[in-house]
Amino acid sequence: MKPPLILALPKGRILEACLPLLEAVNIVPEPSFFDKRTRLLRFKTNDPLLDIIRVRSFDVATFVAFGTASMGICGSDVLMEFDYPDIYAPLDLKLGKCRLCVASLANDNKAPEDSSRWSQIRVATKYPNITKQFFARKGVQADIVHLHGAMELAPVMKLSNLIVDLVDTGSTLRANGLQEIETIVDISSRLIINRTALKTQSSRINTIIDRFKKLNLLSTFSARD
Ligand code: PRP
Repeated sequence: MKPPLILALPKGRILEACLPLLEAVNIVPEPSFFDKRTRLLRFKTNDPLLDIIRVRSFDVATFVAFGTASMGICGSDVLMEFDYPDIYAPLDLKLGKCRLCVASLANDNKAPEDSSRWSQIRVATKYPNITKQFFARKGVQADIVHLHGAMELAPVMKLSNLIVDLVDTGSTLRANGLQEIETIVDISSRLIINRTALKTQSSRINTIIDRFKKLNLLSTFSARD
């Protein structure tokens, strides 16, 4: 029997948003997948030829780029940050909609809304490549502080002047005394495929892509969650 295809899914809130979508394309994970206490990371599904792994959102792209997972669901923020040539992203799933923003302290007079007036700036982010490119296009040399979470603390604790982070409702910014200055790009989740796997296992993978495509055309899942 052929080894199962691997579908990589991101932990956290995107995973919650993915669940109705999986159900609608008839991918039914084994019960332990839904057990919040489980330490398992790989799960069987109702299809003996399809397994699921659950990893950090940034790692979904890495597993798929290396072909360890044939397919995945991944935010367009992560795809932009890595720009892996081996990843094919045929489908916007319209899940996990949010935006990648620049933010500062709400009362920071040194962070004018007209960011073209910045000369040099220190920015905390988990998106060093996108951030560097964004500021470089404005002629600003950004010193990057690479963090992996709790970005909002950085301006408050004077680790940086600004942050670049995902914003959805804006409540995390507000709760920490920050304000949005500028949107870099709108974000949503994509179905991603390893290009080599698409060639070598085209029939199996295209069958699954088509199931997602049919849903997408119906625009059933247009909200974040
Ligand atoms: C993201 C992001 C912000 C928050 C924004 O973090 O990094 O902190 O969501 O959402 P809001 O605008 O609705 O408040 P997430 O909760 O995904 O966790 P993370 O820090 O592990 O990325």
